[in-house]
Amino acid sequence: MTFEGIDGSGKSTQALLLAEALRADGREVVLTREPGGTPLGEQVRELLLHGDHVSAWAEAALYAASRAQHVAEVIRPALARGATVICDRYLDSSVAYQGAGRGLGVEAVRTLNLAVTGGLLPDRTFLIEIDGATATARVGETRDRIERDGAALWDRVAAAYREFAAAEPDRFVRVDGCRPAEAVAAEIRGFCG
Ligand code: ADP
Ligand code: TYD
Repeated sequence: MTFEGIDGSGKSTQALLLAEALRADGREVVLTREPGGTPLGEQVRELLLHGDHVSAWAEAALYAASRAQHVAEVIRPALARGATVICDRYLDSSVAYQGAGRGLGVEAVRTLNLAVTGGLLPDRTFLIEIDGATATARVGETRDRIERDGAALWDRVAAAYREFAAAEPDRFVRVDGCRPAEAVAAEIRGFCG
């Protein structure tokens, strides 16, 4: 399962609440995030979020490299032993931010990411939706490089996410993230057997 949405929508909060709920039911849960999730991925995260200017395709390729390692090292082994994997951002983030937000093209970025992951897609993706003003208030002043650039991209990114959800209604669940975290978590929990 993956969580998607603009910065500050509540993905990390909800990923953790869902992991705790499923663990309480006795399931083995691997909670992980992108960019990151492996030592290589954490280094890429550092480069991307706190480094100097990165060209748009270099950025897309670095996210893809982090994801390839994450799938090989963490996600596939966890799935193979029957664990539930909850990932805070995955491939749809690249398609939305780099493909639509940065204008590299949704299809080109999706093709790259399907290649590097061996076509691994989530069974379920929770798209947490909030308006830009609420996101800005939540994110506050502590912004990384992508977040600073990203606020200007949020409208395009949010519109792209809505298109993905419409195109894959069996995978995506759109969730209103403007409600209290517990209410959002209860709705999400209802989709997880
Ligand atoms: P994301 O991972 O999407 O960036 P976070 O889960 O880190 O979002 O949440 C961003 C900020 O908003 C955090 O300070 C968090 O405590 C707060 N927050 C998360 N969910 C809610 C909510 N439903 N209502 C109000 N504040 C929230
Ligand atoms: P993250 O730390 O998850 O941000 P937040 O918790 O604020 O949502 O991700 C950092 C930034 O990286 C975020 O602005 C979105 C961006 N990002 C991409 O542009 N492409 C990607 O493939 C991923 C995984 C993240």
